[in-house]
Amino acid sequence: MTIITRFLTSTVAVLALALPVAAKEYRIAVGDGAGGTQEALGNAFTAALAEQSGGEMTGKLFLNGQLGSEEDTVTAAATGTLDFSILAINNITPYSPTVGTLTLPYVILSLEDAEKITQGEIGQQMIEQTIEDTGVRIIGWGYSGFRVLTNSKKPVSTVADLKGLVIRVPKNEIMIETYKSWGINPTPMSWNETFAALQQKVVDGQDNPYMTVYAMKFDEVQKYITNLRYLFSIEPLIVSEAVFADLSEEEQQQVLAAGEAATKASAEFLRTEEAKIRDELVARGMEITEPADGEKEFIDLATAAVWPKFYDQIGGKEVLDNVLTSLGRPAA
Ligand code: MLT
Repeated sequence: MTIITRFLTSTVAVLALALPVAAKEYRIAVGDGAGGTQEALGNAFTAALAEQSGGEMTGKLFLNGQLGSEEDTVTAAATGTLDFSILAINNITPYSPTVGTLTLPYVILSLEDAEKITQGEIGQQMIEQTIEDTGVRIIGWGYSGFRVLTNSKKPVSTVADLKGLVIRVPKNEIMIETYKSWGINPTPMSWNETFAALQQKVVDGQDNPYMTVYAMKFDEVQKYITNLRYLFSIEPLIVSEAVFADLSEEEQQQVLAAGEAATKASAEFLRTEEAKIRDELVARGMEITEPADGEKEFIDLATAAVWPKFYDQIGGKEVLDNVLTSLGRPAA
């Protein structure tokens, strides 16, 4: 060994002893762009995770579906090739039908309903069921507000106004059936193909919360908004169960605590930002229409046709009844 190699070897050995254990940096897939609920949830989570673990665990967000479509991130996390993902619940439902209860039309009617269900006993049961069904664990809940309908062609206020519009929906049976109950055949499409499809006018419209419309810059390709309230968008933060199981018990507790902190931050973000973002979309030229007659026709058609169709898939009518009654409403 030359003097130089001996010097380098001993220097590397000393440095290795002196350096702290390298922090683990986890990859977090995010379906939406910057400025919306998903990014806010992700930022709150990474900050809380670093704090909880004294900097030993950190996360890096990959926005705009860089790590794959939202559906694909569920399978990637399930197989352990991805660590975390933040996505809309409607894109988990195809893998874990019980969470479909939360995508049934007109079940969750406010942020408070969403918080009560997701953070209570029912949410805990859904977390356990999702681990079993898909191999991913929900460790945080993002709250994005109601999915309003946007389109490029005309103001929509009645069910009849939907006629002639080609509307993109996620690949989610419940949402497809909801539009069918309103008399049109929607176009199921992955989230990461949606902006281009709106821009190229392959479809005329879509539905998503104000937060998401803003984060995805849909105001550049959509003009009209209808204030539908059929679906309150819940956006879970999931971790690969394989990755989670590999952590020490202490690290698992730190991850769960960071998820809880991010959940609270997400509710706060919606409360403080949604109205500002809606006003910003109007300032950019979007026009908002209220559904006619307090949305009665939309509500009556969707609940009558869609709820019973999915009782079996969500685990029985009693699963929906349990959600409704725990929100102080009559059973279905
Ligand atoms: C979808 O429409 O596929 C999702 O709700 C989009 C999102 O995650 O924001």
